[in-house]
Amino acid sequence: MNDALIRSLPKCELHIHIEGSLEPELMFALARRNGIALPYESVEAVRRAYQFRNLQDFLDIYYQGMSVLITEQDFYDLAFAYLERAKADNVRHVEMFFDPQGHTARGVAFETVTDGLSRAIADAERTLGVSACLVMCFLRHLDEASAEKTLDEALAFKDRIVGIGLDSSEAGHPPSKFKRVFGRARDAGFFVTAHAGEEGPASYVWEALDELGVERIDHGNRAMEDETLVGRLVREKMALTVCPLSNLRLRVVDDLSHHPLRRMMDKGLVVTVNSDDPAYFGGYVNQNYREISEALALSREEIAAIVRNGFHASLMPDEEKKKAL
Ligand code: ADE
Ligand code: ZN
Repeated sequence: MNDALIRSLPKCELHIHIEGSLEPELMFALARRNGIALPYESVEAVRRAYQFRNLQDFLDIYYQGMSVLITEQDFYDLAFAYLERAKADNVRHVEMFFDPQGHTARGVAFETVTDGLSRAIADAERTLGVSACLVMCFLRHLDEASAEKTLDEALAFKDRIVGIGLDSSEAGHPPSKFKRVFGRARDAGFFVTAHAGEEGPASYVWEALDELGVERIDHGNRAMEDETLVGRLVREKMALTVCPLSNLRLRVVDDLSHHPLRRMMDKGLVVTVNSDDPAYFGGYVNQNYREISEALALSREEIAAIVRNGFHASLMPDEEKKKAL
């Protein structure tokens, strides 16, 4: 019903893992190009495998999928395809997560990843009119020493990487595990954010705020279990990058009609809507808006307010934000 509105509004996407935009068709094309054997016989078989009981089920397949990315051109093709798709959804600005440790561990050089992604971003700005920047995530299932090494590598690419995030398996890997490396990242001038409260408890959201000094919370669903925490997030106007279809497919919620987005808005939280890993979760950003709007009967005003939140919470220069709003 609100489809036309959703399509017509210029939007920001603040929570997209570029490796999670790898569609099975491109996965097969890159596997062929790089002489890599996939454990699936067809694109349809890949899609059939996308049945997840939880975050870890997904991550196992996600890390396997990204193993077809080898050359600078592969990273370029991945990012440019996503940016074209984003443009079709009327996305004006993207803050793109990437997982360098998922590549360097396989022998792909850090600069191969950043060169390909940043070349695609530069071309997309010029040819599509979509602005984008890179936010490098540490994999939290690995140790802090590995994150430290990754940060050391990123310092040489400070002109291309604007922020630092934290992703991968949440349970058992609290933000406090990365306190020192996030301190270094902040001191180096990076914007910082972290996945927290997706599967992990509200205490992880507290830690992300107090120990990592984050400026945004990625997901944040379980913050809703702690009234004091909600009050603080509201007071601090801390934006949450919410990902409805991800939450559904990873069974963070059993049905979109039970999704906390409306309750979050009612509490005064600054919520945004994003796709997370669109190739795996069945929809890009507009599809996320469409399905959550329908499930929660969001009004046109509520949809427009979420879209505005995306611009306010973004790292776009203020003049650009003003033009877009
Ligand atoms: N990496 C890619 N998608 C993720 C998610 N939804 N949560 C944690 N890590 C991720
Ligand atoms: Zn995510």
